[in-house]
Amino acid sequence: MFKLAFISTFALGCTSAVKAQAPSVAQLVASLRQAPTEVDRMNLLQDSDLLFNFLAPPSGVTTGSGGHTVAATSGNFPGVVGNGVSMTIGFLGPCGMNTPHTHPRATEINFSLNTTLRGGVLVENGARFIDVEIAPGSATVFPQGAIHFEMNPSCEPAMFVAGFNNEDPGVQQVGQRYFGLPPDIVGAALGGLGVTEILGLESKIPDNVAYGVDECLQRCGITRGNQPTAQLQPVDAGNSPSGISSVPAAASSTVRPVSSSAKPASSSARPAPSSSAPAPSSILSRRPIGIPIATSDSAPFGARAVETNVAAPEVTSFKIRA
Ligand SMILES: *[C@@H]1O[C@H](CO)[C@@H](O)[C@H](O)[C@H]1NC(C)=O
Ligand SMILES: *[C@@H]1O[C@H](CO)[C@@H](O)[C@H](O)[C@H]1NC(C)=O
Repeated sequence: MFKLAFISTFALGCTSAVKAQAPSVAQLVASLRQAPTEVDRMNLLQDSDLLFNFLAPPSGVTTGSGGHTVAATSGNFPGVVGNGVSMTIGFLGPCGMNTPHTHPRATEINFSLNTTLRGGVLVENGARFIDVEIAPGSATVFPQGAIHFEMNPSCEPAMFVAGFNNEDPGVQQVGQRYFGLPPDIVGAALGGLGVTEILGLESKIPDNVAYGVDECLQRCGITRGNQPTAQLQPVDAGNSPSGISSVPAAASSTVRPVSSSAKPASSSARPAPSSSAPAPSSILSRRPIGIPIATSDSAPFGARAVETNVAAPEVTSFKIRA
C-alpha cells in the first residue's frame, strides 16, 4: 500500500499537477464502505480498480521455500468491497505445501488448475478428517473455519485458484500461530513439554508456502535445507513466562535442539537439528519485542497477540501487545 501510494503519487506528478491526488487504497475502501449503494460504489471506482493482476500484485504475496500465494482482498483490491468475495492464487513449486490453516471469515472453494493436489480438511471437534485429491479441473470446498492444507505432490510447479465468500477472509496458519502462544501454556497443552522444548520446536516452523513431505522431496531430488522462519507469531515479554523473557541472554543459552522424546512421530525423517539447522538462536533476541515481522497490511502474519484476563464474574480486561 505504501508502495502503491508512492507510485500513484509519482504517476500523478508526471501526468498532471492539477488533478486531485488519487486516494490511497485505505481511503478508497473507507469511502466504498460508506457508500449507500452499489451504484455509488461504482462511481467511486476507476476502471482499473476493478482489475487485479495476480502476476504483478501490488501486495498480498506470501512466500516460502515451496512457492508463493497471492491474495486479492479488501486490503489491496477495492473492487471487491461490498461484493463479499475475494481470491487467492497459489503458485506451488514442486512439493510445495500450503501449511495447515483456517480462514476465520470465509468458506473457500479451491480449484486445481493443472496438477492433482493433495488436500485435507478437518472441520471441527468430532468431525472426521477428510483427505481430498483435487484433480486438474476440479475443485473442493473448505468450510469456514476448517483446518485445511494442500500440497503439490508433483515435481512440476502447480497453480490453484481459491475463491472466498468474504472480501476479508483472513487466514490463520495453525503451526505458526499455535507456537506463538505463551510457551508455558503450549507446553502444558501438549502434556507437559518444557518451555525450551517448545521454543526449539517453534523456531523450526517454516514460512508458508513450505516444502511438503519427505517422500515428495526425495522423489523430486529436493533438499529441505533451512527454510525461512520469518512468519512466526511475534513473541514479546508478556508471551513468555518470567525468567525467560526477562533474561534473553540466559534464554538463548537454554534454547536447545528439540530432544528426541519431544519430537512428534511424524517428524522423524526431519534432518537432525544439529546437522542442518543452526541451533535456534533465542527467539526473544531474534524477534524484537513488540515489532511484528510482517508489515505489509495485507500480510496475514501481522496479528497482535491479545491476552485477556477474565476477572470474576463479568469484567474482561484486555492487555494488548503490539
Ligand atoms: C487451495 O488449495 C491449494 C492447493 O490446491 C492449497 O495450497 C490451499 O490450501 C488452498 N488455498 C488457500 C488459499 O487456502
Ligand atoms: C501449471 O500452470 C502454471 C502457471 O501457468 C505453470 O507455471 C506450471 O508449470 C503448470 N504446471 C503444470 C504441471 O503444467
